[in-house]
Amino acid sequence: MEQLNPHSILVTGSNRGLGLELVKQLVDKSNPPKWIFATCRDPAGPRSQDLKNLAAEHPQIVIIALDTADPSSVTAATAKVAECLKGAGLNLLVNNAGIANVSSLETETPENMAETYRTNVIGSMVVAQAFLPLLRKAAQESPMKGMSCSKAAIINISSEAGSITNVLLWHLSHIIAYRCSKSALNMLSKCQSLHLAKDEILCIALHPGWVQTDMGNKMGKGPLTMEQSLQAILETLGRLSEENTGTFVNWEGDPVPW
Ligand SMILES: NC(=O)c1ccc[n+]([C@@H]2O[C@H](COP(=O)([O-])OP(=O)(O)OC[C@H]3O[C@@H](n4cnc5c(N)ncnc54)[C@H](OP(=O)(O)O)[C@@H]3O)[C@@H](O)[C@H]2O)c1
Repeated sequence: MEQLNPHSILVTGSNRGLGLELVKQLVDKSNPPKWIFATCRDPAGPRSQDLKNLAAEHPQIVIIALDTADPSSVTAATAKVAECLKGAGLNLLVNNAGIANVSSLETETPENMAETYRTNVIGSMVVAQAFLPLLRKAAQESPMKGMSCSKAAIINISSEAGSITNVLLWHLSHIIAYRCSKSALNMLSKCQSLHLAKDEILCIALHPGWVQTDMGNKMGKGPLTMEQSLQAILETLGRLSEENTGTFVNWEGDPVPW
């Protein structure tokens, strides 16, 4: 089986939930990445304590402030990452940060819609734009043929809640702004895959499953623990190739309808 083996990875929203679990499982790998850029919007705050405790034990974790809704913080984070990498590229970008505020068609507000888009869609786009030079550098310098997450990739953590075909869990919550934002993130992922194919940068929208996190628990108790979701996601990331770029897959790598 192919193995995920990036030299460097950056994760947004890594202080809790799926992002933190991803960082945990990466450092526990037998071949952990040399650089794990664990970004979060408030590294000094109490919600980042678990991440700070983990980083204290694992020197490959570098905590960097990055608020996906604040382009200036994205620019500052890019400079810090480039400084650490000292001329090397960034292999894997995981756009994980996201928000989901409960709403229905009747209660949805322009303010919530705008905030959700700013974080989930615009933020993911701005982060990918900012790190594109480092991703290109990784792709150009890699001796590997084809596309892989170990070489150069953008993984957009989407949701089947944004699948227009499946409209996952509609009976439990309408979350209008969230669903629309994830549909838009899916389109962004497709556009990125088309534009970046020539650079051999793999681009995917990935549904992590209904997982027991602060966000997942807003709908009730999902079937997956964070450990189960991330274990499967890491295996899936290790298998992805140019055949998968521009697709929407779930945690196990199975296709999800747009
Ligand atoms: N859990 C599920 O069942 C499920 C299902 C499908 C998709 N997803 C997707 O999976 C991803 C992770 O979700 P989760 O379940 O782990 O949610 P979560 O437990 O609520 O964690 C969300 C993370 O995103 C961060 N974040 C929010 N806004 C941010 C911003 N503007 N800039 C930087 N970070 C920001 C949060 O940081 P703070 O601590 O600062 O708020 C937190 O680290 C999301 O994209 C979500 O849509 C989750």
